[in-house]
Amino acid sequence: MTVFFMNMQKNITIAIQKDGRLSQHSIGYLAGRGICAQKNGRRLVSVCNATNTRILWVRDDDIPHYVESGVADCGIVGTNVLAERGVSIPIISYLDFAYCKLVIAAPRANRICSLSDLRGKKIATSYPRVLQKTLKENNIRADIIYFRGSVEIAPELGLSDAICDLSQTGATLREHNMTPFHTILESQAVLIGTYTIPHNTVSRPLSTKHVL
Ligand code: PRP
Ligand code: ZN
Repeated sequence: MTVFFMNMQKNITIAIQKDGRLSQHSIGYLAGRGICAQKNGRRLVSVCNATNTRILWVRDDDIPHYVESGVADCGIVGTNVLAERGVSIPIISYLDFAYCKLVIAAPRANRICSLSDLRGKKIATSYPRVLQKTLKENNIRADIIYFRGSVEIAPELGLSDAICDLSQTGATLREHNMTPFHTILESQAVLIGTYTIPHNTVSRPLSTKHVL
């Protein structure tokens, strides 16, 4: 697919994560290109008048959909989200932030230390598709239990034997007495879509007006 350089005469829409690991870096990345992304309270759309850019503040998991549907010209998302969604949206550039890993981990007491130890076990995750693929490739049959978030709490509540979730600093796993023993993928932020954002899109001072 052809990737166009952004024409700032045209109204461009960019989808970014409203709250989470990608948010601050996404704002900084856009600021470095002259685009002012400034959230207005709970309003989920803002506008940078200086660059004719509309910012959509959305959940990271939904960003591929905004881009695929053409509602957004581009978006900033982690490769973890793209892998789980399993669609091929063009990656314009790797952004060198929001590094994390999708790992499988278990409480020490459960004595699950390798993929083969997962046979017949329950694994809680927000990444059922990627996990299923990994299990299948390793001929492991296990029960996958889907949670949208807060996966680390599942083992101590007796809902699962292990988890498959993102780890960045590892602090959340440690707080839940879990040790990661397998990395499924490594993730970082990427710009996806059909437009790339050039450096120095504007040379004049920025102003931001929010859509009310
Ligand atoms: C991820 C993951 C962990 C946390 C790990 O959550 O689910 O809770 O980050 O980070 P750490 O290793 O630095 O402790 P995320 O922020 O993506 O929220 P979500 O799972 O609710 O989407
Ligand atoms: Zn998330």
